[in-house]
Amino acid sequence: MCGIVGYIGESQAAPILLDGLSKLEYRGYDSAGIAVYDGDKINMSKAKGRLKVLSELTHDGATLPGSIGIGHTRWATHGAPSDVNSHPHFNESQSIAVVHNGIIENYLKIKKMLESKGYKFVSDTDTEVVAHLLDYYYKGNPLEAITKVMHRVEGSYALGILFSDNPDTLYAVRKDSPLIVGKSENGNLIASDVPAVLKYTRNVYFIENEEIAVITKEDMKFYNVYEEELQKESVKIEWDVEAAEKGGYEHFMLKEMYEQPKAVADTLNPRLKDGKIVIEELNMTEEEIKAIKKIMIVACGSAYHTGVTAKYILEGLARIPVEVDVASEFRYRNPILEEGTLVIIISQSGETADSLAALRMAKEMGSKVLAIVNVVGSSIAREADSVLYTWAGPEIAVATTKAYSAQLIAHYLLALKFAEVRGTVSEEELSELIEDLKRIPEQIEMLLGNREKIQKFANRYVAARDVFFIGRGIDYAISLEGSLKLKEISYIHSEAYAAGELKHGTISLIEDGTLVVALVTQEELYKKTISNVVEVKTRGAFVLSVTNTGNTEIEKNSDYTIYIPHTNKYFTNSLAVIPLQLFSYYISIGRGCDVDKPRNLAKSVTVE
Ligand code: G6P
Repeated sequence: MCGIVGYIGESQAAPILLDGLSKLEYRGYDSAGIAVYDGDKINMSKAKGRLKVLSELTHDGATLPGSIGIGHTRWATHGAPSDVNSHPHFNESQSIAVVHNGIIENYLKIKKMLESKGYKFVSDTDTEVVAHLLDYYYKGNPLEAITKVMHRVEGSYALGILFSDNPDTLYAVRKDSPLIVGKSENGNLIASDVPAVLKYTRNVYFIENEEIAVITKEDMKFYNVYEEELQKESVKIEWDVEAAEKGGYEHFMLKEMYEQPKAVADTLNPRLKDGKIVIEELNMTEEEIKAIKKIMIVACGSAYHTGVTAKYILEGLARIPVEVDVASEFRYRNPILEEGTLVIIISQSGETADSLAALRMAKEMGSKVLAIVNVVGSSIAREADSVLYTWAGPEIAVATTKAYSAQLIAHYLLALKFAEVRGTVSEEELSELIEDLKRIPEQIEMLLGNREKIQKFANRYVAARDVFFIGRGIDYAISLEGSLKLKEISYIHSEAYAAGELKHGTISLIEDGTLVVALVTQEELYKKTISNVVEVKTRGAFVLSVTNTGNTEIEKNSDYTIYIPHTNKYFTNSLAVIPLQLFSYYISIGRGCDVDKPRNLAKSVTVE
């Protein structure tokens, strides 16, 4: 999604803004712009396309001198990607410049009101309304104008604002769209995400909903919407700059795939104590765990896919009924959350708009909400009743890999804990399961070692038109993720199907040479899935099977087989996902796609 950076200090602002924006590129964008005050007026440069275009246009920022400025990468929502729709946006006299993340939902109404007062608009964006509305309310006191705008606009926003007649101060405000302030000796910064400021500081303030930051070179103050000053504590960011950089890998996605053994171990190990599972953050007594009648899992994208996997595991091991829903459906379908329902929201970023809305709705309906989140201090983490953090570290590539793997681990831990407390697994089974869990990091490492084999296979399928992923049970859940990975970074049409459903439609699409990826890791379902494999083979499909070591039977019906090492049947997704990720990655490279920043996609979807 869109990115915001702002700077005020002793240095030249433009190069810092461009550098900060480059750290937010992973979020996805289609245009970029910066505005800098030069001691007399605000100058602005903006351009459709990659940040490179803006850097060339401004000679790496040299054409915009000055030490206070704001910058933005835009991911179009209202108005097509274009130079004029890019941010920043000005008021008519160009004395106020604004960058905005989020959506102003009542912008048309406000625009009409402003037009009736003679305001002229140049773009199709909702953001331009904010610039003119600030102008409308501005009587010399920026803070007052900002709070008036906050009372008037509906929707979500993180804003960075410059006033040319208040040139020593940078303003920032947020509601339902993330924003942080970084304090450094060399000046202060605002940003929509931590990586943008890490080069300059690790001391960060998280701006909460409806809070305003008033920032000068040396100082910063925080206010609420009633202009009352607030006391805020800064947070020290522990992870280092390298964690958010490529570190010698060709792409972030590859680096993050290789970080999976660590992400999994870091999520797992702190919760294993003396052969037992201890999840202190859960904040639930044994009585509360026993009283759970139902679990409702809500998430988006790949996080939703980990939820689908979790359903099989929580039901299988802890014998608790589980429903899984995508957040954008859940929030508008008037769901029933009966007493005793535990709601689990899963999110890497902790900022996904639909997941956040689902969380708020569940809380309003009286349910306890547990969040599984990767970004510490994110909105979902802050608003949930309890948080189980995945310790995957910053994930930059749009296509998630290590956060997905860490989320799976969080689900395993929960399922085992619940099963233990509810007495649905024996002590012996539990210790075997824990032993299997402990082996996952090294097993992932081993599978990553197969990289070249998978690369060779992927090279043969670079020109594929359609790919189908099939599986039953947990293998169906992994099919969903395998298919999403492939389509999101390679733009090849792909579908995931519950293998038993094939004959109800999809099998009609199988032609000579169509690639079918069969997931066959559930021993009790081998025979069933193999008959589906035979069905597609008879119709000419080329079959790649992913199965457990030892299941050589499958080779009779597959053209290519990838084996995963032995683990418990509930944990196979953690291993089967590795070849699928590598396969998508190499197909994407073979097709010359932008692996880390696929077209039209965003890392963190902070708008509906
Ligand atoms: C976007 C990302 C996906 C992610 C989904 C949910 O679509 O590209 O990788 O799974 O959002 O994001 P979240 O941050 O809530 O896990």
